[in-house]
Amino acid sequence: MPVNRIPNESLGGPTCAVIAHKNPHLKVTIVDINATRIAAWNSDNLPIYEPGLDEVVKECRGRNLFFSTDVDAAIIESDLIFVSVNTPTKVKGVGAGYAADLKWVESATRHIARVATSDKIVVEKSTVPCRTAQSMRVILEANSTANLKFDILSNPEFLAEGTAIPDLMKPDRVLIGSLDTDRGRSAAASLADVYAGWVPRSQIITMNLWSSELSKLAANAILAQRISSINALSAICEATGADVDEVSYACGLDTRIGPKFLKASVGFGGSCFQKDILNLVYLSESLHLPEVAAYWKQVVEMNEYQKRRFTNRIISKLFNTLTGKRIALFGFAFKKDTGDTRESAAITLAKYFLAESALVSIYDPKVDESQIWMDLSEPGVESNLDAIKKQVTICDSAYSAAEGADCVVIATEWEEFRVENLDYKKIYDSMQKPAFLFDGRLIIDSKKLEDIGFQVEVIGKGS
Ligand code: UGA
Repeated sequence: MPVNRIPNESLGGPTCAVIAHKNPHLKVTIVDINATRIAAWNSDNLPIYEPGLDEVVKECRGRNLFFSTDVDAAIIESDLIFVSVNTPTKVKGVGAGYAADLKWVESATRHIARVATSDKIVVEKSTVPCRTAQSMRVILEANSTANLKFDILSNPEFLAEGTAIPDLMKPDRVLIGSLDTDRGRSAAASLADVYAGWVPRSQIITMNLWSSELSKLAANAILAQRISSINALSAICEATGADVDEVSYACGLDTRIGPKFLKASVGFGGSCFQKDILNLVYLSESLHLPEVAAYWKQVVEMNEYQKRRFTNRIISKLFNTLTGKRIALFGFAFKKDTGDTRESAAITLAKYFLAESALVSIYDPKVDESQIWMDLSEPGVESNLDAIKKQVTICDSAYSAAEGADCVVIATEWEEFRVENLDYKKIYDSMQKPAFLFDGRLIIDSKKLEDIGFQVEVIGKGS
């Protein structure tokens, strides 16, 4: 059974590559109108970095995994089509700043309807607001030229960046939503057979379409809510002398709570959490549920508060002014082991420091220099970038970033920033005195750094 995929930024590729890897009897074609991306997929330099992805692609490419720009041909020959396109937050119009922009989902759906010459199962893989599948179904049925049957399934993705391949190989669950009709159930069974190539049947869950769509938003909202909850507690810890790591450990031992996603931080980032929660907020508002909308919005507001609070602590410790002081920012990615900076807390911190007229030296082992400039400047405003370049230096090591700095701020939990992996004595010697270190990720051993001479401030721990 041929399986095809309409493009996406990051998750569709790994998912379909693993489907091909685990189902050698299926032909999987990944299509994208962007020829450069397809050329990269067909080269030794894949367009996204995920540990383990190269091996999977190398094994199947040309066997049963193909990459192509011929979208029409792929639609015509396939039985199952994953629509895995971007659903960014709308930047203008109704719901701007909250609602998902579904233009790519709609155009991909119309494309399938226009080109298909046989019945298709269309799988909604992008994260979408509840009831998008219904719109896709209406579009498919209204635009199909021949008398074709389209079945719509929802099959949300739960992989995290940096661990995409292990997450796909051993998923906690696979969710398939379908209409509660004989055709719907049979389409769901066909997709379940694909996953059964490697996932135990007991972990392949079927449910109604809307439950499946909502479950994706709900899972991300609950994960983000845990982080905002522990971050809210971190503020209480700092004020009382409690230690947030100890509180998190104590709570996590309760099997009903569990230990994961309870690490306090300077704030969650990434392309999904904030976007999906704001989607949920917009959905709640459109359903006339303002209290529900306010509840979820608070998760994002707490995240913003955490970044402001951390910055205020830095200002206050640095004798209430950052003007002309040099801040070494360790880490720019939204989490370790990725070069992705989308919604990274480090961007907000850097902008706060710049607004306080500080000089900022940034080092991240994986983020490109051009990306940092893009993240710090306003799109299209040349003069703004020139001004920023006067205050910001991008460095090629933690040591050069720290040279002459008044403080080090750890924004990303890269392993190389741990005490055992960096020569903090060398860093201390090269800094202004008193030398401050602010740990926004709880990764350093404060005692060891205090012994060197640092003044250490850790999120969720009192001074
Ligand atoms: C997240 C979800 O974890 C995936 O299940 C989901 O499929 C994905 O979004 C998506 O919707 O595509 P991801 O954004 O890659 O995955 O990253 P996470 O590992 O969830 O981390 C998100 C942010 O939370 C990072 O900034 C991380 O540093 C932060 N975090 C995470 C904490 O501050 N504390 C924690 O305990 C855990």
